[in-house]
Amino acid sequence: MVETQPSLAIKLGKLELPYPTLMGSGCYGSGEEFAQFTDLRKIGAVVLKSVTRLPRVGNPTPRLVHTPAGMLNAIGLQNPGIDWYLEHEVPKYGRRPWRVIGSVAGFSVDDYAYVCERLAARDEIAAIELNISCPNVASEGETFACDPNLTAKVVRTCRGLTDKTLIVKLSPNVTDITAIAFEAEAAGADALAVINTVRGMAIDVDTWHPRLGNVTGGLSGPAIRPIAVLAVYEVARVVTIPIVGQGGIETTRDALEFLLAGATAISIGTANFTDPRVPERIVEELREYLLNRNLASIGEIVGKANVGFATAHEYEGDQG
Ligand SMILES: Cc1cc2nc3c(=O)[nH]c(=O)nc-3n(C[C@H](O)[C@H](O)[C@H](O)COP(=O)(O)O)c2cc1C
Repeated sequence: MVETQPSLAIKLGKLELPYPTLMGSGCYGSGEEFAQFTDLRKIGAVVLKSVTRLPRVGNPTPRLVHTPAGMLNAIGLQNPGIDWYLEHEVPKYGRRPWRVIGSVAGFSVDDYAYVCERLAARDEIAAIELNISCPNVASEGETFACDPNLTAKVVRTCRGLTDKTLIVKLSPNVTDITAIAFEAEAAGADALAVINTVRGMAIDVDTWHPRLGNVTGGLSGPAIRPIAVLAVYEVARVVTIPIVGQGGIETTRDALEFLLAGATAISIGTANFTDPRVPERIVEELREYLLNRNLASIGEIVGKANVGFATAHEYEGDQG
C-alpha cells in the first residue's frame, strides 16, 4: 500500500509545479477572474493570454461561434502590447499565490525575441511559452509552427535570452508535427505545448456569410481531443522533453488519455468557460486514481499507452 498521498508534482525544465494542470492561454485571464469560483491554490499554473510587441485590437466581430462539440474562436491576439502589459498587468502577478507563465506571440523572430526577453526579465513571470501557432491572424501567425527552420530559429534565439523554462506551443495544422517538435527540442525548448487550436470555419446558411468576422478560426474543445491525443502520442515518440497536452480536456478521464499518451502535464482551456471547477476536480480525481492503483506519483502513468515513449523525466517521489 502507498502510505502517503500520491504526488501530483511535476517539472517542466526548471519550473516545479505542485499540480500537473495548466490553464490554457487565452482561456483563464490571469487567474484573478476565476478566484471567486475555485481555489486557485489547486492549479498548477496559469498561462497568460499571448502578448505582442505592439498593441492589437484583434479581429472584427463576431469572434466566437459555438459548435456541436466545442467552439471556434478568432480573437486575433487582442492585447495591450508589451509596454502596457509590463507596466500595468505584470506587477499584479507578484502579489498572487498562483504561478503565471507568460505567452509570447509575434510576426518576426525579432518580435519574439523582444517580447520574450522583456517578459522573462520579470520576477513575476515563472516561465515563458512561445505561441508560434496562433491560427487567427492573417498569414504570419502560424508560419513559425509550420516551418521547422523558422521554429528552430525563433526557439534558438529566445533560448539565448532567458534561463527560465521555455515552452514552445505547436500547431496541429501541419503535415508532420513531429518534425517541428524535433526542431523545437534541438533548438533548446524545455517543454512543448501540444496543441493549439485546429483551423475551422462555420457558415450562416440564412445570410450566406461566414459566421466569424475573420472568416476562419481555431476550433477548440472536445471535438479536437482525438486529434490532440494523437499529436501528443506522436510527439512523445520523438522528444525527451516534457509535453503539456491540451485540446478538449473536460474530465479526469480526458486528462488521463493525454498523460497515458505521453504528456507530463495537461492544460485546460475551453472547459473553463462552462465550468471553472474542472481543473480542481481533475486534480482531486487524479489523486484518487493514483491512490486506487497504489501509485506514488503522476509520473508513473506518463506514456504508459505509448510503446515508443521517448522521455525519461524526473518526478518528485517517482522512486517506485
Ligand atoms: C478564446 C480562446 C483564446 C485563445 N487564445 C490563445 C492565445 O492567446 N495564445 C495561445 O497560445 N493559445 C490560445 N488559445 C488556445 C488554447 O490555449 C488551447 O491551446 C486550445 O484552445 C486547445 O485547448 P482546449 O480545447 O482545452 O481549449 C485560445 C483558445 C481560445 C478558445
